Amino acid sequence: MGVEGSEQEVSCRAVVQLRNVVLPRPHGELRLWMLIGLPWAVKVAGSSFPLPPPIVPASRPCVLFRSPMSRIAYVNGRYLPHKRACVHIEDRGFQFADAVYEVIALRAGRPIDEERHLARLHRSLAALEIAAPMSDAALKTVMREVIRRNGIADGILYLEVSRGSAPRDFAFPKRAKPSLVMTARRQRLAARLVEEGVGVITVPDLRWARRDIKSVSLLPNALAKQQAKAAGAYEAWQVDRDGNVTEGASSNAWIVTPDGEVVTRPADTGILNGVTRQGLIGLLGREGLRLIERPFSVTEAKAAREAFLTSTTNFVLAVVSIDGTPVGNGHPGSLTRRLRQLYDAYVAAQGGVR
Ligand SMILES: Cc1ncc(COP(=O)(O)O)c(C=O)c1O
Repeated sequence: MGVEGSEQEVSCRAVVQLRNVVLPRPHGELRLWMLIGLPWAVKVAGSSFPLPPPIVPASRPCVLFRSPMSRIAYVNGRYLPHKRACVHIEDRGFQFADAVYEVIALRAGRPIDEERHLARLHRSLAALEIAAPMSDAALKTVMREVIRRNGIADGILYLEVSRGSAPRDFAFPKRAKPSLVMTARRQRLAARLVEEGVGVITVPDLRWARRDIKSVSLLPNALAKQQAKAAGAYEAWQVDRDGNVTEGASSNAWIVTPDGEVVTRPADTGILNGVTRQGLIGLLGREGLRLIERPFSVTEAKAAREAFLTSTTNFVLAVVSIDGTPVGNGHPGSLTRRLRQLYDAYVAAQGGVR
């Protein structure tokens, strides 16, 4: 929705022809730029773009090719073309959601907050008694190789560890070997969302009692996200039986009270302790800003001065309406904007260029 999709690149040696190209709508914006070794290239954001015939008049010598770098996935020891990458049909991740995952932001090809992600991965694995598939040093090597092979500067790395494949049985298999999958892709949040903020809806929290484990059991999250999309909202804030917001379908939820206190739910078993959340809490402490970790209700959130969400793919993003009710004046609040800047700087300090 708000995230720019993967980019497709097409290059052509016939500069004159490309200058005259008019791309059909609604395939996305057209950008021309110089590449070393490739005189000109056309980049179409967010779509599979069928080349219109006028680009390649048969009478002219023109070399065209797509996707100079095709997607590569890592699957259990092998780097495979994305299309051919697969796990066994009796993988327990597929049959029982018996698997955990991490999504790590990449900036300038570097993983952001890598140690926190690995610590959470180990916590999730330990909670489910799944063995680590390899040492952290080896994991980091594979991560870098996946990033390199996919040529990703800004984007995300997805990593999943399942208990492995075994004949279907509920109890843990005796000798299953954990399976490890990694993919990476370009992705960046649209600047418009940061400037304008987003709307959320509230939905009942239908999930199990161990939301602190980052398991791939994401059906309630997917249903909530679909409800948000159908309502024209960006995210769904899930609400427990007491009327308190737990967290978003794929983000943590925050408010700023009329007194200027930043409030977010404590990271117990009721929510996922977001890596972005942890990073931001550190920044709040450093800046001497008041943080209170306590539950807050939907009613309180709607009356808050500001609201925002945090996640690996969104960093700090203003929430400007809840169920259609404007938060504050309906625009990103000043503290939220400041926290966004602080977090951006925190990312940049880790080596990423923004
Ligand atoms: C349910 C849930 N809460 C919170 C988050 C935010 O976590 P992080 O900041 O580590 O991306 C996510 C991220 O996917 C999530 O799925």
